[in-house]
Amino acid sequence: HRHLLGIKGLSPLDIETLLDRADAAVAISRQKEKKTATLRGRTQINLFYEASTRTQSSFELAGKRLGADVMNMSVASSSTKKGETLLDTAITLNAMRPDILVIRHSAAGAAALLAQKVSCSVVNAGDGAHEHPTQALLDALTIRRAKGRIGGLTVAICGDILHSRVARSNIVLLNALGASVRVVAPSTLLPSGIDQMGVEVFTRMEEGLKGADIVMMLRLQRERMAGSLVPSVREYFRLYGLDAEKLKIARDDVLVMHPGPMNRGVEIASEIADGPQSLIQEQVEMGVAVRMAVMEALLDPRRNAEGETIGGEP
Ligand code: CP
Repeated sequence: HRHLLGIKGLSPLDIETLLDRADAAVAISRQKEKKTATLRGRTQINLFYEASTRTQSSFELAGKRLGADVMNMSVASSSTKKGETLLDTAITLNAMRPDILVIRHSAAGAAALLAQKVSCSVVNAGDGAHEHPTQALLDALTIRRAKGRIGGLTVAICGDILHSRVARSNIVLLNALGASVRVVAPSTLLPSGIDQMGVEVFTRMEEGLKGADIVMMLRLQRERMAGSLVPSVREYFRLYGLDAEKLKIARDDVLVMHPGPMNRGVEIASEIADGPQSLIQEQVEMGVAVRMAVMEALLDPRRNAEGETIGGEP
């Protein structure tokens, strides 16, 4: 079975092929009749241990548009509450013979662990602060459609880099496709070793936004911070929140992204989130298409070598 565990390990050709496939899925999703028979008879289980609006619903719609039977495991009312472990839950669901297991979990490496224990394809829908590969793919598709290319663009990823699996997956993908990647954050929200990841590091928005083609804002993940380290919202917005004045520092044709969920007035002003330069709703639409492309690729009968991983550690 083939798995998508991360962007790390995908070649530029793998990525471009998935994006091409996703472009075709956008066209299908814009038709009145959205259902295809590609995954007819296949079973997809979504197993989300962390909250999600965009990722879970788009994986569900993607599966349904491909004709699969989709089951959303309700973790909150499952035997997890009685102490059943992640592995026992996964092995139990695996016995029901799904073809795809989509997993989101707070522990880095959770998806890779499951991939070793189950006999179906595993897709990582976010594992701790490690990777969120389908988010990076949908971001890339959004950029490629808006700008016509990814190579040669300057992308500034701003905010809570420390806790962000979205940042990590995007840094790997954008570098693979030849973009110049910057991170802009207070030093307390930068992970150690960030300078080894092929990015230019800035601690001031005034510098990091200069000449940027794309500004990608990240949510301040206050729930993952210890009490004393949570920055004051007013101070954070003043220094790192994206408003019209800061956005002027970037290129005139800059476009703005945010993976969601947004904290309006914390990392981004409403006038920018809802403004003409915002790609946020396009990102959501591309989310369904990219997940259709990934699941199609994983179950493609022409390429299903046993144990093969199309991205991430095997
Ligand atoms: N971007 C993203 O992963 O959103 P959700 O947490 O709502 O799925």
